Amino acid sequence: MTEKDFIPSKYQELKEQGQVSYTSPSNIALVKYWGKKENQIPANPSISFTLEACATTTSLKYKKRAGDNSDFSFDLLFQGEPKPSFKPKIEQFFKRVISYLPFLTQYHLIIETSNSFPHSSGIASSASGMSALALCLMELEKEFVPTMTSELFVQKASFLSRLGSGSACRSIEGDLVQWGKHKNIEGSTDLYGIKYPYEVHPIFKNYHDTILLVDKGEKQVSSTVGHDLMHGHPFAEQRFSQAHKNLENLKVIFKEGNLKEFIKIVESEALTLHAMMMTSQPYFILMKPNTLEIINKIWDFREKSKTNVCFTLDAGANVHVLYPEVEKAEVFQFIQDELVAYCQNQQYICDRIGFGAKKLSVK
Ligand code: PMV
Repeated sequence: MTEKDFIPSKYQELKEQGQVSYTSPSNIALVKYWGKKENQIPANPSISFTLEACATTTSLKYKKRAGDNSDFSFDLLFQGEPKPSFKPKIEQFFKRVISYLPFLTQYHLIIETSNSFPHSSGIASSASGMSALALCLMELEKEFVPTMTSELFVQKASFLSRLGSGSACRSIEGDLVQWGKHKNIEGSTDLYGIKYPYEVHPIFKNYHDTILLVDKGEKQVSSTVGHDLMHGHPFAEQRFSQAHKNLENLKVIFKEGNLKEFIKIVESEALTLHAMMMTSQPYFILMKPNTLEIINKIWDFREKSKTNVCFTLDAGANVHVLYPEVEKAEVFQFIQDELVAYCQNQQYICDRIGFGAKKLSVK
């Protein structure tokens, strides 16, 4: 499969107007993607749990424009209000995908989007937002190419999402999605995310992710700037090969359900992501004092309780607390008793592993 396979051959007649809608979740990486090449090609492979509660719902109304147009025409509403500040990002996305969706300039689009999680909660909405939009566009394309297979639909939706925001390509399906070429993972590719193709122990099937909102402020470093800092980073090559090794080691861990080894990789990945930021030029510290308090509390509790609770981090101060369903009661009690106090306004989100985006029916 190459990029060219996503360029459509001739469309059947274009539909006059209509509406499509999708809800698409966020995801949390276990092996992190940090660093990219041109055209959103990842510098290393990554793998994530698809989430369920943190999601974006997008509806796309489309109406055919008169004449032959070469520009894009669209309105954007976020949580019911016009949101001009989001438009440049969408415009840039359209430019990146126009050769794969040549119908785009022939329509006026009204994009209405909303998130299930609070705005500026420090939860990145780019994965859920870009994947929801890509899916709406694919649904529209399917109208013109009725013979499109569901396999191609999913691959292209992930491929387009990737061009919007790299990690978004891991949000189309669930529950474990791998993105980026790895020599020992069959079907893996830099172009789009694939469902993890090997055996996974049932312990990983109902995993919980309680997201502790430590700092809800604007991101200090955009992911574009962050990825860029991996160019010429003194430890970049070691980091990229570490990601390959961690993925390799996860194969046995996923199969056997070895949570002790799972924790070692997941927590090390989170800290490595932050270590990369701390050792880039310029350097950043995205953790807050409460992030460290929470991590230490998790380590103490794990030791005492002999549970398998662990943490991971995104490019920010919030902490994702991961634990299996069988330990839910005990760990959740601990979160409420000891961790919620470190959250901004005591806020947290109860999420869990999910199964990907869903098409919504339109009235
Ligand atoms: O999708 P982007 O370009 O916003 O990159 C996100 C990268 C991390 O969230 C920090 C890690 C990951 O793999 O999701």
